[in-house]
Amino acid sequence: MQSLRVALGAQAYPIHVGAGILGDAALYAPLLEGRRAAIVSNAVVAPLYLERLRSALAACGASVVEILVEDGEQAKRWETLDAIIGAMLEARCDRRSVVIALGGGVIGDLAGFAAAIYQRGVAFIQVPTTLLAQVDSSVGGKTGINHALGKNMIGAFHQPLAVIADVGALATLPPRELRAGLAEVIKHGLVLDAAFFEWLEAHMERLLGGDPQALTHAVVRSCELKAQVVAADEREAGLRALLNFGHTFGHAIEVGMGYGSWLHGEAVAAGMVMAAELSARAGPLDASAVARVRALVARAGLPVEGPDLAAARYLELMTVDKKATAGRIRFVTLEAIGRAALRDDLDPAAVRAAIACCSPARAAAQ
Ligand code: NAD
Ligand code: GLY
Repeated sequence: MQSLRVALGAQAYPIHVGAGILGDAALYAPLLEGRRAAIVSNAVVAPLYLERLRSALAACGASVVEILVEDGEQAKRWETLDAIIGAMLEARCDRRSVVIALGGGVIGDLAGFAAAIYQRGVAFIQVPTTLLAQVDSSVGGKTGINHALGKNMIGAFHQPLAVIADVGALATLPPRELRAGLAEVIKHGLVLDAAFFEWLEAHMERLLGGDPQALTHAVVRSCELKAQVVAADEREAGLRALLNFGHTFGHAIEVGMGYGSWLHGEAVAAGMVMAAELSARAGPLDASAVARVRALVARAGLPVEGPDLAAARYLELMTVDKKATAGRIRFVTLEAIGRAALRDDLDPAAVRAAIACCSPARAAAQ
């Protein structure tokens, strides 16, 4: 097992990464100490991993409440949140209770938000079981749900007590979900670490094949990079916004197509190609770097084109994005591979051109 720390002063917490660790009672014992644990999971993940977690918690002497919600992005809504809060109240969870999120990013965002607001806030532990959740969503304390008008529009910053990322759980992940997680891994290299991007270029086939050592390296390096950013800028005053590379276009795809039709990672993948094309038009990213972005996204089995959505619709949806201020859309662009910038001075014509050159119509015309 490898452990690292998110250095957030009194809110600092460990991230543990290793195979088989979600059933390790020693990791939970110091966090629970006789407290009640409310495990939030779903009908896909619970049959695979709930028993191992339950046994570990029993070994710590914790009393456990299990709350299962529906699977999928659609679960990130008020009704599901209300059901979690209701189940916790019925089980008499108090302010010392600890919520444990067992699942992917949807469960982490939802259960984390429930923890943030239950009785004005209780502690929670992230036990991420998808690649996306292990490399991104479980770290950094962003929690929340969606609104029909915008992705992640309702939520809170609420840091976990610990992240326990069991890379062994990735063995049961459907290949499409593994690929979606790779989008956020690629993002970390593109925005923060050119050497990591090169490592991904060299090892993509091992990652796609589920090689445990390669996956562990990808999870650990992603968590190191994200932990550094979160420690420097927890509330996204500046640096952290760079982690939204590809997400402005990506959120527009997710909302425009209806939640769940494109996976978050797939939408981010196409969004990163659009953002790279935009970076070349706005300068100074060079064309060979854009080609490398396209090539790696494609090798990861991810879309390099958006859906058939009009540019005007993208612009409309992007204006609602959290990164837009006073109606001005802020984009994360690349200056080079491994170096990103935040821009709100971009010509809408360049944005439309970047969308157009990643559209199915263009591909069909070729
Ligand atoms: P997800 O949670 O829907 O999980 C994907 C699918 O895999 C689901 O069907 C799930 O039940 C299943 N699953 C989970 N673990 C499994 C396992 N080990 N074996 C088999 N099946 C398993 O999707 P996701 O990609 O993990 O997360 C996407 C969500 O994360 C989005 O809502 C996105 O907005 C959010 N997100 C949040 C942050 C953040 O900082 N909070 C960052 C990135 C993404
Ligand atoms: N996924 C972007 C962030 O956590 O800030």
